[in-house]
Amino acid sequence: MKNLIQILVVLSLLLIITTDVLADLPPAFEGRKLYVSHCQLCHAVDGKGDGPLAKAMQVEADDLTNIVRSESDNTLIKIITGKGRHASTHRISPSMPKWEDVFSEHQIKAVVAYLRFLSSSKHDLIGDPEIGLPLYQKYCSICHGAEGDGKGVMTELLRIKPIDHTNPHKTDKLDNKELASSILNGRGKFMPAFRGVLTQSEVDGLVSYIRLLYQIWGQLEDGGLVILMRPPVDSDSLLRDPSCKSKDNLSEKGKMKAVSIGEQFKSRGVPIGSVLASTDCLAKEIAKTAFGKVESVEFLSSIKTLPEQQADSYTTQLERRIGSYSGKGNLVLVTHELNINAISFQTLEEGYFLVLNPMGKNEFEEIGIYRLDN
Ligand code: HEC
Ligand code: HEC
Repeated sequence: MKNLIQILVVLSLLLIITTDVLADLPPAFEGRKLYVSHCQLCHAVDGKGDGPLAKAMQVEADDLTNIVRSESDNTLIKIITGKGRHASTHRISPSMPKWEDVFSEHQIKAVVAYLRFLSSSKHDLIGDPEIGLPLYQKYCSICHGAEGDGKGVMTELLRIKPIDHTNPHKTDKLDNKELASSILNGRGKFMPAFRGVLTQSEVDGLVSYIRLLYQIWGQLEDGGLVILMRPPVDSDSLLRDPSCKSKDNLSEKGKMKAVSIGEQFKSRGVPIGSVLASTDCLAKEIAKTAFGKVESVEFLSSIKTLPEQQADSYTTQLERRIGSYSGKGNLVLVTHELNINAISFQTLEEGYFLVLNPMGKNEFEEIGIYRLDN
């Protein structure tokens, strides 16, 4: 009996540890749970808006998959919470509940991540991702990583590169059948076959779970958008010579940081058009090393210490450059916190970037804020 209790204690401790590890669920996965329980009744399974409750109430719950594409994350959060619905382009009827007191900030962001998934994924969820989650942790994370980014412990040991499941550019081109077949039959030398280990519905659950691992970087893969970034704050450790006179001025740490930024865009198949940066040394060097090219322009330099009139002029030039952009790749602008603040009311923390859609002249809309891995 004592033994049994000991075993139970150990087991429940293990359970606590494992649930703790899983506390950070993939955002779209967590968002789907909330969507299913709170939104689906009106907005329907696919987000198209003709759910049973909406029909019964005789209201038209909007087609979210369409709306989400033209609203920024921030606006969506305001609409969903009800804290600032005027931020949307049209009035929103009171039949759409205000979720402010129901969800935490974290949960609202997760819901938004799922809405983005709904609006951009090319594939339906055929299996139950709730079945997929524990199986993924059990059988796949050792190679594919707990977060699905392809960095599990085995990758170093075996020197293998499993596919990064968080990268839509990698996984979107495989349809559900192809993903399922790779899991059942294996792939290459190191992706094991799970036929006989997993049932068909378990495999389908894994496929859906993999779909929800996507971290969607807006429509950046299609090009034509504007990426606004700021240089890292820690210039002392990233630059070799703070006076910035020498060429090739990034420290090893700075170089690594810049290369990683460039790689993240490249590995997601994000086409880069022109790259413009502030005249600030770190901004320029980081942009050049990350993207292999940079043109430094005056109006991207920090407006922090400028007289008001000149600051306004920089802001106007920035708005015009964004609004009138019409290139094929995405335009990258590396500028400073206050400059970004002045055109978007967004506070962009380091390691994040803002994506804008040019609409002609000095007009543009915000697509969203995305995070870079460090
Ligand atoms: C009781 C039914 C109902 C529920 C439940 C509901 N909605 Fe809505 N929602 C509506 C209706 C009706 C509209 C359309 C309002 C309008 O166009 O005026 C709407 C509109 C929206 C819009 C779009 C606003 C726009 O720009 O047109 C978003 C985003 C949205 N809902 C998100 C959600 C989310 C997320 C949930 C779950 C957390 C949810 N809704 C739950 C009824 C509902
Ligand atoms: C021993 C390491 C290992 C384990 C365990 C593992 N994988 Fe993989 N996986 C790989 C490698 C390596 C690749 C890349 C294979 C290639 O393309 O050569 C891969 C590729 C894949 C692909 C892409 C296949 C394609 O068609 O391009 C999928 C999907 C996948 N794995 C899913 C899973 C799932 C789900 C599990 C758990 C049930 C899992 N893997 C377990 C190593 C692993």
